[in-house]
Amino acid sequence: MQTMNGYGRMLEAQTVLHQRYQIVRLIGQGGMGAVYEAVDQTLGNTVALKQTLLSRQWLPTQHAQLSRAFEREARLLASLRHRALPRVIDYFVNEDGQFLVMDYIVGTDLGVLLEQHVEPFALPDVLCWMDQLLDVLDYLHTHEPAVIHRDIKPRNLKLTQRGDIILLDFGLARQQRSPGQRQSSSIVGYTLHYAPLEQIQGSGTDARSDLYALAATIYHLLTRVAPPDVLTRATMVMAQQTDPLVPLSVLDPRIPSALSDLVLPSMAITAADRPASAATMRATLQAIRHRSGRPSTDQSVAQADARTADSATGAVVSTTRPFVSAADSKNAQHSLPPPPLPLAEPWPAPMPPAHTVQQQRLPLLVPLILIVSGIFLMVCALIGLFFTSNSAINDVVRYPGVACHCSVFSHMMTFL
Ligand SMILES: Nc1ncnc2c1ncn2[C@@H]1O[C@H](COP(=O)(O)OP(=O)(O)O)[C@@H](O)[C@H]1O
Ligand SMILES: [Mg+2]
Repeated sequence: MQTMNGYGRMLEAQTVLHQRYQIVRLIGQGGMGAVYEAVDQTLGNTVALKQTLLSRQWLPTQHAQLSRAFEREARLLASLRHRALPRVIDYFVNEDGQFLVMDYIVGTDLGVLLEQHVEPFALPDVLCWMDQLLDVLDYLHTHEPAVIHRDIKPRNLKLTQRGDIILLDFGLARQQRSPGQRQSSSIVGYTLHYAPLEQIQGSGTDARSDLYALAATIYHLLTRVAPPDVLTRATMVMAQQTDPLVPLSVLDPRIPSALSDLVLPSMAITAADRPASAATMRATLQAIRHRSGRPSTDQSVAQADARTADSATGAVVSTTRPFVSAADSKNAQHSLPPPPLPLAEPWPAPMPPAHTVQQQRLPLLVPLILIVSGIFLMVCALIGLFFTSNSAINDVVRYPGVACHCSVFSHMMTFL
């Protein structure tokens, strides 16, 4: 049975839409819509179908605004071409709402992976994802007109089975008609931990707003600690208190300070204090990764073997550190574009406990000390005998045994 949900309705499996797309299952449902896995019956491939769901509690003006926003998302995505973005295949409207048909991305979103993994993600993986995201942000921000995503967060990033990141959900995205133009607020949303102050205040977003959200996302992935929201930070800073945003390298000393020095300024409360562009940020990131050199291909492949496919999700995730990311191993095997470089400061290998080191040295040390002191005592005894040879003879005659030893000992002590 189909459930009515405002103007649109949730769709059941097997429903065929637009005489072409057969619903397989519901993938996700948000405040504004639902996403389904479906089969394109014409071409036989799997697609993702995004549907708007309007609530009857909303005003007609809000309905109109949301419909326009959804249509804008479809048109915007259709105009973009980048390997980190899903391709738009179709767009249509029917009695169940508006529908956006796009590539179905197999994988798991990083929000789900964050919940599943007890350990923070491996640093090389996160740096590789960060590089891919800065690349797509550079593409969007330098597009004509520039596109500001405005909703970068782990939940909107999908990790494919090949270890690539795909940026989803352009529901909040805006086009920037002129370079200096800042985008006004939208009717719905942002996610507090990742949103910059200018987006929350509605004072206008630009490319640096996406850099804030990206840096906040990386912060969360590296530390598993959700960054404090910018409103709390701004309030504390204004009250002359310390910014509660703890540097990455303080939270985890294994994180290179150079990386911390890149991520933290990108989360500056004031947009003007952030890096100027995704390209600038990416150049700094690449310098950090270049500094430690590149592991040999053998090493990459061996390390790549240490990773496993997450059985629950199908996404490729790391099991050990340090190692090379999935994208690295893929590149190593197929000679595709340059593999991401390893870390500027590799994860230090854990130091063996001090007592283990002492235990390893002790067996050698004890016999050595015994031999040296034995030789020393013998030399002393000989020297003592030499000096006492005359007087000791008399003593030995009178007090054999004891006298001899006492005399030799006393001379030894004198010598010492
Ligand atoms: N093209 C796609 N392929 C596979 N899954 C997708 C695709 N687009 C969205 N999803 C999944 O659907 C869910 C909601 O998608 P999203 O576009 O973020 O919508 P919302 O506006 O509800 O946040 C997420 O779990 C996301 O991973
Ligand atoms: Mg989303």
